[in-house]
Amino acid sequence: GLPARVRIHEVGPRDGLQNEKTLVPAAIKAEFIRRLAEAGLTTIEATSFVHPKWVPQLADAEELMRLVDDVDARLPVLVPNERGLDRALALGAREIAVFASATESFARANLNRTVDEALEMFTPVVAKAEDAGVAVRGYLSMCFGDPWEGPVPVSQTVSVSRRLLDMGCDEISLGDTIGVATPGHVRELLDALNEAGIADDRLAVHFHDTYGQALANTLAALQHGVTTVDASAGGLGGCPYAKSATGNLATEDLVWMLDGLGIETGVDIGRLTATSVWMARHLGRPSPSRTVRALSQK
Ligand code: HMG
Ligand code: MG
Repeated sequence: GLPARVRIHEVGPRDGLQNEKTLVPAAIKAEFIRRLAEAGLTTIEATSFVHPKWVPQLADAEELMRLVDDVDARLPVLVPNERGLDRALALGAREIAVFASATESFARANLNRTVDEALEMFTPVVAKAEDAGVAVRGYLSMCFGDPWEGPVPVSQTVSVSRRLLDMGCDEISLGDTIGVATPGHVRELLDALNEAGIADDRLAVHFHDTYGQALANTLAALQHGVTTVDASAGGLGGCPYAKSATGNLATEDLVWMLDGLGIETGVDIGRLTATSVWMARHLGRPSPSRTVRALSQK
């Protein structure tokens, strides 16, 4: 069966923009977030409190958070360590996400740590966030395949997921960072997670669309019982520390499918498409989303 309702976790302002070479002004990012909220998105990942040299595009996190403090939506932010958490809490963040890796290669590339060291770095962050009443999402990257290590064993992904939950994360977002997953692999991983005692209601799926499989993978996850789906408006994105990563599943492609299935999202696809067209104009290139292209050519 399929769920009656899906919660979309919009990652455009964070995952979508983090890889943009040209700095986008904070005022434009704020307008983007505002328009996404007006289109009906209720969870909009706003930015990251990471080292500014590692992700220069998001170095304006403080300024941006001040510009969007009146936006009526949940605005989670990425935080890698206590320094990042302190910065986020000072700006009134109510939801954060730590970001782990199922593979050693990506833990090193993205966090300058081993998998174990990264989890150690997150432990006090999650505890402190919990004390502050702040919800914590645990991202897990390279759940299916890794550009350096190839296919990732399901048991490896299950094991790091377990450790993130035991640490106190409220939800795990399963990242297909480089977009190599296919629906059978998605079902296999979700089955294995369930067998390890991790139910679908603690899970979200985060697909990148490198091989055009993001929507098929999402449908497999929905059929399995997952109801939280990450997507990026206009299909923006990529990860600066993972070669061959492209944009996330486009939110418009997702909403088009869910609308057709009669699954509620609360999102107005017309307003959303207009927002992505506006953002694409700002970035100087068309959206890769097929749905954005189709709807904006009408
Ligand atoms: P490091 O170089 O090991 O840092 O980087 P460190 O802990 O040794 O600290 C060095 C300096 O950085 C110190 O300053 C710290 O204070 C400072 P110094 O004493 O030398 O002057 N520093 C900070 N400054 C500001 N904010 C901070 C911060 N932390 C340390 N938070 C670190 C380690 C984790 C900081 C670095 O690797 C980093 O920032 N990585 C972020 C990478 C990133 O953002 N990647 C993209 C997001 S993940 C993703 O896209 C995948 C996802 O979408 C899911 C999927 O698709 O799979 C989520
Ligand atoms: Mg991502």
